[in-house]
This record gives sequence, C-alpha cells and structure tokens, in this order.
Amino acid sequence: MSNKIDILTLILLFLGLPSFSHGWGVDGHLITCQIAQNLLTESAANAVKQLLPTFADDDLSSLCSWADKVKFKYPWSSPLHYIDTPDHLCNYNYDRDCKNENGDKGMCVSGAINNYTNQLLAYGSSFSSAYNLTESLLFLSHFIGDIHQPLHVGFTSDKGGNAIDVHWYTKKEVLHHVWDDDIIETAEERFYNSDVEQFVNAIRQNISGSWSDQVEKWQKCSYNKTSCPDVYATESITAACQWAYRNATEGSVLDDDYFLSRLPVVNLRLAEGGVRLAATLNRIFRQ
Ligand SMILES: *[C@@H]1O[C@H](CO)[C@@H](O)[C@H](O)[C@H]1NC(C)=O
Ligand SMILES: *[C@@H]1O[C@H](CO)[C@@H](O)[C@H](O)[C@H]1NC(C)=O
Ligand SMILES: *[C@@H]1O[C@H](CO)[C@@H](O)[C@H](O)[C@H]1NC(C)=O
Ligand SMILES: *[C@@H]1O[C@H](CO)[C@@H](O)[C@H](O)[C@H]1NC(C)=O
Ligand SMILES: *[C@@H]1O[C@H](CO)[C@@H](O)[C@H](O)[C@H]1NC(C)=O
Ligand SMILES: [Zn+2]
Repeated sequence: MSNKIDILTLILLFLGLPSFSHGWGVDGHLITCQIAQNLLTESAANAVKQLLPTFADDDLSSLCSWADKVKFKYPWSSPLHYIDTPDHLCNYNYDRDCKNENGDKGMCVSGAINNYTNQLLAYGSSFSSAYNLTESLLFLSHFIGDIHQPLHVGFTSDKGGNAIDVHWYTKKEVLHHVWDDDIIETAEERFYNSDVEQFVNAIRQNISGSWSDQVEKWQKCSYNKTSCPDVYATESITAACQWAYRNATEGSVLDDDYFLSRLPVVNLRLAEGGVRLAATLNRIFRQ
C-alpha cells in the first residue's frame, strides 16, 4: 500500500465513526495530550516527532483519540481502554482484575500501558522492533488518559457506569458518558467560552500554581519503574466510588450540585493524566 493511501485511511478512521465510549471523550484526550506535549524533554519531543506521521504536525494531541477510532479495525484493542473491578469493592488488583472477557491476563488498560511502554523502550536501539512504534506511542498516549477517567476503572455489572441511565440536566445520558464528555463540555461552555484551549490554559496555570507542590509526586514512579498504571487505576476506582457513583443511581437527575462538586475531580484527573503522560514519555526516551 502506498503511503498516500495509508494516510488517507488514517484520516478517514480519524474522522470516522463515533465510538461508544470507554475513557475520556475527544476533548478529554486532547487536553491530556496538550498538557503532556508542553512538558516533554527535548529528547522525548524529538522521539515523538520522529514517530508521529507527518500530517500530525509534530503535535501528539492531534492523534490522541486515534485508539478510539481503531476499535473496529483492531477489535482485540477494545478491552484495553478500561478495567472492570468487582461490584462495590472500590478497589483494584492487577492479578484479579486485569483481563478481558475471555480471561486473557493483561488485557486491560493497565496491562496495555505496560505493554506499549515496553515496546517503546526499544526505540533507538540497534534492533528494529517487531512492533509499529507509531501505534505504540498513539496507544500509550491515549491509554494514560483513559486510566485517569475514574469510571474507566469501574464496576463490572454496570460496565463502568455505561448501564446507569441518568439525566444530565434535561438530557438523557448514561453515567459513563457524563464523565467522558458532559462534565468537560459543560465546563467549557460555562467557564471557557466553549474554547478547549482556554480550558487547557486554566489547567496549565494550576499545574504551575496551586498544584505545583504535588506535581513531583504525580510524576514519580516507584522502584525506578518506567510507568506506574496500577497507581493510577487505584486512584480512579477510589474517585469513582467517592464521586462518580455517589448520588448517581438509575434515574438520577444530575445538575449543578453534581456538576460543580465533580468538576474539580475532573480538572485534577486531566492534569495528572497530562503530567504523567509526559513523565512516562520522558523516562522512555531518556538521553
Ligand atoms: C500489546 O501490543 C500488541 C501490539 O499492538 C497487541 O497485539 C497486544 O494485544 C497488546 N497486549 C496488551 C496487553 O496490550
Ligand atoms: C504504522 O502504523 C501507522 C498507523 O496505523 C500506519 O499509518 C503506518 O503505515 C504503519 N507503519 C508501518 C511501517 O507499517
Ligand atoms: C484552578 O485553581 C483554582 C484555585 O484553586 C480553582 O478555583 C480553579 O477551579 C482551578 N481550575 C482548574 C481548571 O483546575
Ligand atoms: C534507581 O535509580 C537511581 C538513579 O538512576 C539509582 O541510583 C538507584 O540505584 C536505582 N534503584 C533501584 C532499586 O534500581
Ligand atoms: C449526596 O446527596 C446528599 C443529599 O442531597 C448530600 O448531602 C451529599 O453531600 C451528597 N454527596 C455527594 C458526594 O455528592
Ligand atoms: Zn479510550
């Protein structure tokens, strides 16, 4: 296949079918990747630039939702966007929970983050990788966003809130989608002139302002590990129980009370996701 056709395919996939969701929506991923892009070291930024297709214009965020668009082309990748944990336990355990419906171990967002981190560690080595490292980068960048969406590490029987019908103000919605998109979109409309760039800037300001003393802790990964997805998954199921599921049962009407109390959680998770994506890429592409 010629390069031209390949790129066309990618663009068509990119513009393509709306995805049924698991993880942040388009804006959530865009925000995470834009925050990360600015925090890359020179060596990581160069590697990213090398790996991205030329039409991405050296901008990771332009393809941050690519992994959602290839769910149909790569059906095996669908379970890699989330983790189902046992109902109402409010905790996460890799050995117990990280599997797909067939029980294949590692087939969850945490396993996928480890997988694509390991693939990218081969970048620049003299052995050519068996994997397409462009895809590894696009998967990793997307999945580090997804694992920070609290309901993306949710309960098994309600499919992370996908099976809980609520009203978002007057609109019929499932709870999962409220966390993927609605909280973010309502915040953009109400506080940021419907402009995602203004939202990104507000988060950036807090990363260098009120959150600055926490950023080092967010970046840290114990025992010199390159990525730490299990930490992020545990935080997400904790936030899901404390904030997402709380007062949001079948038929609930979610309005200002819910929106205004949950928005700070969403802001924080977007910030942590962006900071940690950059930290992970900076560790992968050291020197
Ligand atoms: C790891 O990556 C390869 C290549 O994309 C894929 O076939 C495999 O299913 C992935 N496994 C996990 C756990 O992410
Ligand atoms: C790697 O994957 C990208 C995205 O799917 C694709 O456009 C590109 O052609 C692939 N490269 C190779 C060498 O297969
Ligand atoms: C930034 O921090 C201020 C002060 O804590 C807070 O009021 C505001 O909502 C935060 N904005 C974002 C996007 O995190
Ligand atoms: C972790 O990394 C530091 C600095 O690279 C090194 O000095 C230390 O020995 C490493 N610790 C472990 C447990 O590998
Ligand atoms: C849940 O609703 C109750 C009753 O309206 C309220 O007192 C409580 O603060 C709410 N909790 C959360 C986390 O929203
Ligand atoms: Zn996703």
